[in-house]
Amino acid sequence: MRKKVIAANWKMNGTLEQANSLLDAFASAPLTVNESKIAVFAVPAPYLMLAKEKLGGNPYLQVAAQNCYSKKSGAYTGEISVEILKSIGIDYVVLGHSERREYFSESNAFLADKVNICLEFGITPIFCCGEPLEIREAETQNTFVAKQLEESLFHLSAEEISKIIIAYEPIWAIGTGKTASNQQAQEMHESIRSVLAAKYGAKVANEIPILYGGSVKASSAVELFAQPDVDGGLVGGASLIADEFIKIINA
Ligand code: 13P
Repeated sequence: MRKKVIAANWKMNGTLEQANSLLDAFASAPLTVNESKIAVFAVPAPYLMLAKEKLGGNPYLQVAAQNCYSKKSGAYTGEISVEILKSIGIDYVVLGHSERREYFSESNAFLADKVNICLEFGITPIFCCGEPLEIREAETQNTFVAKQLEESLFHLSAEEISKIIIAYEPIWAIGTGKTASNQQAQEMHESIRSVLAAKYGAKVANEIPILYGGSVKASSAVELFAQPDVDGGLVGGASLIADEFIKIINA
């Protein structure tokens, strides 16, 4: 059985005071997490250790970095290495978010390098993919997303790709309040799984969690997460509201 994953992406939001109060709320809430369903919190880098400290008592609450660099260490001012992340107990990193692709020009090839170094250090990448509006309107979203996966992930062995979590985030649904319909999400997730199956076989493809992201709310989460190929969510805005995100985790 593949794992369900409900991930929060705080992006560049929250002061220390707000981070403290959100983390306290999640640490003390009754959450339905267990061996088959985990929650992951991608907090801004300065709060990673704080988040570990506050949530670390529960093995099903994990902390993620929102990015990392592709090199092990060295003269790369301002960057964060997986070696540093691992040394503070971080086991997950969000990679290839559309905001990083757009504002920081991260290419599929560059992301392949980041995926490699994460796996080398035993860190699970939450690999984001997803199409912009014009691609959706041209109805070429399936080939667009398949290319993102092929160019960043398909050099991996079956054993390596089994360690990845994929997050499908249609760019037109991010922060817009416009969630993909249940059917649109399911169709894309099914397409992603079939691309994975064609390359790695059905058994491997069936074990890889594929999360949906883009304006997920407590009110939409239950039906979205009930789709057969939707294994959870990557949640932005709603993950900054404690009650709302608790409901999404428990959806
Ligand atoms: P929103 O949930 O705010 O639309 O953001 C989605 C997202 O980008 C998560 O990574």
